[in-house]
Formats: sequence, structure tokens, C-alpha cells
Amino acid sequence: MSKLPQDLIDAAAAVRAMAHAPYSKFQVGAAIRSAEGGVFSGCNVENAAYPQGWCAEASAIAAMVAAGHRRIAEVVVTGGGERLCTPCGGCRQKLIEFAGPDTPVLICGPEGLRRRFTLAELMPHAFDRDTLG
Ligand code: THU
Repeated sequence: MSKLPQDLIDAAAAVRAMAHAPYSKFQVGAAIRSAEGGVFSGCNVENAAYPQGWCAEASAIAAMVAAGHRRIAEVVVTGGGERLCTPCGGCRQKLIEFAGPDTPVLICGPEGLRRRFTLAELMPHAFDRDTLG
């Protein structure tokens, strides 16, 4: 097994503590390493008008894009609860915009790594920019 990206795991855990999740009480942190070597993190931000909230992955992607980086090399998502906090369908699509099928997506809990996926495992047969031709 490859070496744990402890910096990303730490960044996701730290930003998870900042999550604004008063409705679900389900705090999530995400951290991305760009191909250029930057580390970007973000948390979920809920809203009293429920559909207006967004996921931790979306926050982290937005921070990466704002810094001018356009390629995701590695992703960590940290949630709570008993089960794996895998990215929702919309976030899988958002990640695919900037990542490849082999990009690692590590799912963590407060205690550390729970499971390692590739993006293709989470989202096979994805619609992406290549589909557009
Ligand atoms: N959530 C994320 O931020 N990322 C995930 O990967 C799964 C779910 C958030 C959305 C919402 O604020 C809360 O978790 C409960 O669904």
C-alpha cells in the first residue's frame, strides 16, 4: 500500500471542524492535492434553505480553482458516523472535471483512513470532457 498522505488527512480533519452543518449535524472535510503540488481544503456549508447548501468537496475544488490550479492528483474526504463518507454523485462528477480515473480518493473517519478508492471505482463510465469531443 502506498504511503498515507498525512498532510491531506490532517487538512481534511482540521477543516471538518469548521463545517457549517447545523441541520444535518454531519460535518465533512475534504482536502485536495493538485498536480502542481498545492493543498486545498474545504468543508460543507449548509443553509436554512436546504438545497442552497453545498458539500465539502465543492468547497475544496473551488479553493483549488481560485488559486489557478486545474488538475487534482489526490483527494481525502473525512466524515463521521459508522459508515464510509463517500462523495455524493454530484461531487463525483465535480471531481471528474479535474481528475482522472486513477486519481485516489481516500475516505477517512476521525480516527484516520477507512478505505481507498480510485475515482473510476466511484464513478465508472463517467460523462466527462472527452465525451463532448
Ligand atoms: N456531504 C459532504 O459535504 N460531502 C460528502 O461527501 C457527503 C455529504 C455533506 C452534505 C450535507 O451538508 C451533509 O454532508 C449531510 O448530507
